[in-house]
Amino acid sequence: MSVKRIGVLTSGGDSPGMNPCVRAVVRTAIYNGIECYGIRRGYNGLINADVVKLDEKSVSHIINRGGTVLYTARSKEFMTEEGQKKAVATCKFLGLDGIIAIGGDGTFRGAAALSKYGINVVCIPATIDNDIGCTNYSIGFDTAANTAIECIDKLRDTMQSHERCSVVEIMGRNAGYLAMYVGLAVGATAVLVPEKEIDFQRDVVEKIRQASLNGFTHYMIVVAEGAGSASDIAKQLEDEMGLEPRVTVLGHIQRGGTPTGRDRVNATKMGYMAVELLAAGKTNRVICTKDGSFDDVDIQEGLAMVRDIQQIEIDALNAMTGYR
Ligand code: F6P
Repeated sequence: MSVKRIGVLTSGGDSPGMNPCVRAVVRTAIYNGIECYGIRRGYNGLINADVVKLDEKSVSHIINRGGTVLYTARSKEFMTEEGQKKAVATCKFLGLDGIIAIGGDGTFRGAAALSKYGINVVCIPATIDNDIGCTNYSIGFDTAANTAIECIDKLRDTMQSHERCSVVEIMGRNAGYLAMYVGLAVGATAVLVPEKEIDFQRDVVEKIRQASLNGFTHYMIVVAEGAGSASDIAKQLEDEMGLEPRVTVLGHIQRGGTPTGRDRVNATKMGYMAVELLAAGKTNRVICTKDGSFDDVDIQEGLAMVRDIQQIEIDALNAMTGYR
């Protein structure tokens, strides 16, 4: 079947780099003589036929913009069979030969549902959580990590001056990759992630004691939101150690901002690849990257893969703070 017209959508939590990815999809489609429609507000846009035709110019100057020009949503209606049937009807009505869905695992599950109705789909991983098992990297992770690092570096200045303890909460939903990466980059005293069982005495109190014995007078505790709340941890530290920690929840600030070069380049490569796959008649695929090279896997297989925090991350963190 020759591919003449495709749709592109962004869905779920936005991530910096979605815009360069949309740009890459549109430009690659046009390069291949394929028309491209932007579907707005995620899967809701497919249900409500909320679409806009995109040309080369309509994606000019978005390569450097955070957020997503297509808007995004977590569609409740699309989770129902009725919603999915409406979305399929829109695809048929518009004559879409395929959909490129940019987002995280929820977005992939949505695409897999469309695929069951015979719609050709290719997914691109874009989430700051970097929690998709089949890929080392998802678009937006690098920008979010650098935003958090910059904020925590600023915090450290004042923590050092006042010889205080800081507890910083990092996004990531049920995953700790972002928190661990950021914790290593800022030289945290301790990092708490949901992937590892937490023993408060061993993983926080003892680490602070060791740091204090080593002559440090301020402490940076990084906690992934999936591992607990920063305010609960601060309260425990106050009760057990008599410290008066300051709490910072970085929250949605991590999801915004100008995408880094790494996010822009990966978004461009992945967007390009996704269109080439659809044009070659492939469907139900996820673009993924490992050790610098790019590949694609079946959506269900990709969703079934799991990643874990690497032992080297934990060991290196401990060594940096002199903790055994
Ligand atoms: O999945 C991205 C993410 O930012 C998670 O890190 C976070 O738990 C969640 O989305 C927040 O979702 P919302 O923007 O709907 O509050």
